[in-house]
Amino acid sequence: MPEVKASIITYTGINQQVEHHDLDASLLECSIMNQIPHIHECGGNGLCTTCRIRVMDGHSNLNPRTLKEQEVARVRKWDPSIRLACQCYTKGNVSIQRLVWTNSEVNRLQLETIPEGVAEERPIAILFCDIRGFTKLASENSSFDVAHILNRFYTVLGDPILINNGVIYQYVGDEIIGLFGVSGGLKSKNCKDAIRAALGMQYAIERLNHIELVDFNVNLKLGIGINFGRAYIGHLGHPKHKQFAVVGDPVNTASRIQSFNKQAQTSILISDSVFKSVSPNTLDIGRSFSNQMAGHDHDTVIHELFGFKEMDVQLELQQSLDHLLRNEDAFASKFYDKVFTKAPDAKALFKNNMASQGRLLTHMLGGIVYSMSRPEHLTLGLKLLGESHSRYGVQEGHYPVVLECLMETIEETLGSMSNPQLLKAWKQALETVTSEMKRFAKET
Ligand code: HEM
Ligand code: FES
Repeated sequence: MPEVKASIITYTGINQQVEHHDLDASLLECSIMNQIPHIHECGGNGLCTTCRIRVMDGHSNLNPRTLKEQEVARVRKWDPSIRLACQCYTKGNVSIQRLVWTNSEVNRLQLETIPEGVAEERPIAILFCDIRGFTKLASENSSFDVAHILNRFYTVLGDPILINNGVIYQYVGDEIIGLFGVSGGLKSKNCKDAIRAALGMQYAIERLNHIELVDFNVNLKLGIGINFGRAYIGHLGHPKHKQFAVVGDPVNTASRIQSFNKQAQTSILISDSVFKSVSPNTLDIGRSFSNQMAGHDHDTVIHELFGFKEMDVQLELQQSLDHLLRNEDAFASKFYDKVFTKAPDAKALFKNNMASQGRLLTHMLGGIVYSMSRPEHLTLGLKLLGESHSRYGVQEGHYPVVLECLMETIEETLGSMSNPQLLKAWKQALETVTSEMKRFAKET
């Protein structure tokens, strides 16, 4: 039989070339096989668009767009050079550039489905967060320091929005606005995501005060207001300068709820509609207020929010992720040392570079925490992972060992931050991940 010539796949962003022998493997699978990080949240099912690539050269060697791809491209008005790597098969050389690099970029992709030039009414949760104590900080520090702190502030407070499937809508001075449910979803989920983001923000500002701002002699506090309602969303403005905008009474009300924190001396206030959207007895609530907001002829009921009554696994994971993966290589090498000590037979299954493998594992752990707020994608992602592990020769008995080693590595890396609740949350999440992987591996 004539030998099939390998195609050369060039990854332009990282200037790397790999040989691709398997005509039945997609370009996404080519990345995975060659340990090239390539986000693929829906596990190669043509749904999430995170595996998107720009084809720089060799376009004619690829299959035509699949039906799923055609739909995705039509909605987003993609030019023909943008493809989904999970839907692309090549019979010759191609040069590609991956277009989504980090988990936090994934959320902004929701905005691509927002109409141009018109505003569409969509039910969303709106979160306004205002920083207190900033005027003092700005008056006592150089503009350079203030800009640096503002940047840190936007980063640490933006992360909880992004990790909870929210979109950062705007920064206005020392205020940050997040939207949840821009591309749909259940009201209960969108409100819960916004609540979790608010609690994550509060945790993040405490850490910022105690660690990074400790020399600035300030104690920044937050005022957060969350509302839910039907707002108008679109890309609006001058024909030559349109920008994403969200307008309507629910937005103004969210802003006013936020402002009411000062008067009520509270940190987080949620509207009654947010409160009622989550299952009864879920939230730890303080005082309730009935207040007539400016521009309204009726009272709005709002509640002070302290937290969740029961442990929220996602919130626990989110708050520790940054710390755990600060030194990804150290985390991975500690973990694999443990695995190979407890299950020496597993070592032979790893054929590729262990440093790159370690990074793929830690990226995947981060990706799992991010995509927990998009559970439909998470399940599909775990399906692909379970199937690939079955091909690597991973046996069912390896999973408990890996789980144990991951938990030990997590506990050791958390150090003084570790506590029983946090460990319980990680255990619960990883048990779900491994049991899903095993389930899908069996079906392979
Ligand atoms: C929490 C569970 C696990 C996660 C999140 C995970 C994650 C990953 C990821 C992201 C990769 C890169 C390739 C791909 O995406 O398919 C990978 C490869 C691999 N994993 Fe896992 N894994 C898990 C459990 C296990 C277990 C139980 C074993 C058994 C020892 C194992 C052995 C391997 C092997 C052999 C490879 C391929 C390495 C190579 O190509 O050299 N993994 N894993
Ligand atoms: S669309 Fe390709 S991985 Fe989701």
